[in-house]
Amino acid sequence: MDLFQHSINVILKNQHPEGAYIASPSFETYHFCWLRDGSFIAYSMDQVGQHASAAAFYRWVGRVITRYAAKVDVLEGMLKRGERPDHTAILNTRFTLEGFEEARSDEGEWGNFQVDGYGSWLWGLAEHVKKTGDLALLLELVEPIKASVRYLQLVWQLPNYDCWEEHPEYLHPYSLASIYGGLIAVAAWSALPQLADCTQRAEALAGEIKRFLATYAIHEGRYIKHLHPAQKGQLPKPVLKSGVDASLLGLALPYAVFDLTDPIVETTIQSVEKDLLLPGGGVYRYKEDVYYGGGEWILLTAWLGWYYALTGRKDQAREMLKWIEGTAAPNGDLAEQVSDHQLAPEHFEPWVEKWGPVASPLLWSHAMTLILQKAIEG
Ligand code: BGC
Repeated sequence: MDLFQHSINVILKNQHPEGAYIASPSFETYHFCWLRDGSFIAYSMDQVGQHASAAAFYRWVGRVITRYAAKVDVLEGMLKRGERPDHTAILNTRFTLEGFEEARSDEGEWGNFQVDGYGSWLWGLAEHVKKTGDLALLLELVEPIKASVRYLQLVWQLPNYDCWEEHPEYLHPYSLASIYGGLIAVAAWSALPQLADCTQRAEALAGEIKRFLATYAIHEGRYIKHLHPAQKGQLPKPVLKSGVDASLLGLALPYAVFDLTDPIVETTIQSVEKDLLLPGGGVYRYKEDVYYGGGEWILLTAWLGWYYALTGRKDQAREMLKWIEGTAAPNGDLAEQVSDHQLAPEHFEPWVEKWGPVASPLLWSHAMTLILQKAIEG
């Protein structure tokens, strides 16, 4: 089985004609397109030369944001009046493949207020434009870019769901890093008159977020998973009970708030290795994970391998890839997680009863594996 080619096929086959990537075609709960998953998937398509696929995704995002951009004005008004925005006032994290908000009544259970995707898509778009030189696409997307920057300016300090769609009571360094990555990408377009004010605002805000992370998101020599938001005269504070989370890789790769060799990034990775990596491969999200029993996540194993490949540890990167290959189904499909060494096995069956077996194929798993393969080659 050629996992590389199969991964490309799975992604292309599951891209909606309008550009959206379904998170997982065989798992009903994931029959949506997430800005987070989608941005990494599009990035992987750019890495393997499938630029038309990536461009179609960014055009889809552009149409979605344009469709809902009026909400940003409403949100601005609410925040000015000191009102607390509810879930109808924010831009969603996932959409139907046709580009509409999903109709759900259980918002409390599965929150849509997740700010990271609005940074990720800007980061991914910039990578696409760097690789292809497609300035025409950039000009087509000026309005949704501006709306995203305005939106991020309004929401970055509001508590929201993290990238695992949990803990809406906190701020999350991963999400702030995604926003930074997106804003820095926009700032680099300062030569475009169509984006003039927006690039200046993006640059200033990116600087503010970097300072915020350097000031508040470090505890005991490493980056932390959650922060208590600032409240009535009190500064933001680390949430001490939460351990390390593998998504903290994002602070350095790909969002580059801090360098790959930053000592605090290094100690954070060492904590990930100590607490979340099994010998030979297999990375957990975080220690208290109970989702489907808390198995090892393929996309995170690939992400750590990507980091290894870029920091001169190619043997370890290959080890991660080998582990991933060993988890593939006979037809080559990669799941969201594998369940051999669960952290909380008693939680597995209740999830299977609720939503069916673990999602497979998961497009984001295939995307990260492609990114890892290209990084090992590069
Ligand atoms: C994960 C999210 C992801 C979504 C779709 C959720 O279980 O926590 O990070 O965006 O699945 O793949």
